[in-house]
Amino acid sequence: MDNRVEFVEIEQPCDMHVHLREGELLRSVVRDSARSFDTILVMPNTRRPILTGKDAEDYRLEITQWTPGLNVVSAIYLTPETTPDLIEAAAKTGVKAVKFYPRGATTNSGHGVRLETLGDPWSALEPVFDTMAQLDLILCLHAEDPDVPLLERETRALKTVTALATRHPRLRIVIEHATTRAAIEVVHGWSNIWTTITAHHLVLTTNDVVGNHHHLCMPVAKSEDDRRALLDASMSGHPRILFGSDSAPHLNATKNRAQGAPFGIYSAPVALPLLVGVFAAYGRTDHLQQFVSDAARELYDIERRPRGTTARRVVYKPWTVPNDQDPHWFWADRRLDYALA
Ligand code: DOR
Ligand code: ZN
Repeated sequence: MDNRVEFVEIEQPCDMHVHLREGELLRSVVRDSARSFDTILVMPNTRRPILTGKDAEDYRLEITQWTPGLNVVSAIYLTPETTPDLIEAAAKTGVKAVKFYPRGATTNSGHGVRLETLGDPWSALEPVFDTMAQLDLILCLHAEDPDVPLLERETRALKTVTALATRHPRLRIVIEHATTRAAIEVVHGWSNIWTTITAHHLVLTTNDVVGNHHHLCMPVAKSEDDRRALLDASMSGHPRILFGSDSAPHLNATKNRAQGAPFGIYSAPVALPLLVGVFAAYGRTDHLQQFVSDAARELYDIERRPRGTTARRVVYKPWTVPNDQDPHWFWADRRLDYALA
């Protein structure tokens, strides 16, 4: 069955989880995000982490000097030093989200919180979570327990996530980059839990990661059954399931190291065309708008720009993704049926 569509147009596409880094690398990658997306939520795990409202505002200005017009939604990094006062001050400057990294879970997570210091469910952070709930700040969770085997890290963290959601019914929690059927079931079961899903987790399983370090990211891609759950979820039109690319560039010199290669997939240049191809294959391009924009606009209360001014058009135009880029592009040497117009 040929489900090809000639083109799709998405109003105000949003990527609600992207790593842009700093300095030269930021400059070289940020336009790739701006080409596909009107609005992005930028992760704060830069080498000099984004810890305060002031850091977030400076970072936003650094980003938009290269991409005027790009709507940047800011997040700060939750560390053991984060206080309710700091949260309140950040909210006043326009920060919308707080990112939680368990220390040691992934790239640049060294400032994160040690899970074993938190009690159950992370009760040491109660005052911070209470303040966030009052101010409507969103908790973005890297929901993995780094102390268990790789493929179990996400499912093992879910128990704490649901306990947290139960204890803080007014706190809106996002399980970032879900990779398991279990995580999707949690979203269905708790009305204050959302999730982002990446493009790469819709097309990869663990088998694709073994032997290709360009497919290695945290959380690592899981089983075929998990992938099917993510596909169903992203195309379901569910109001709490939204797109976040987790595009995470690393220069080839570091990414290609034989030992200690960093985790992260650079997908920004291909994520939107790839998504369109996946949705088209299932005849579900009618649900792209919800997944790539509407769910995010609702959750993050993103200002709606006038209709037509921010739309991106993706057309049927097969091409082969180049293999000579630095940072290396996800899906290199593979064919994509769709391209940005
Ligand atoms: O693979 C990943 N890379 N996962 C993360 O959570 C962080 C990211 C990065 O910053 O490179
Ligand atoms: Zn990330």
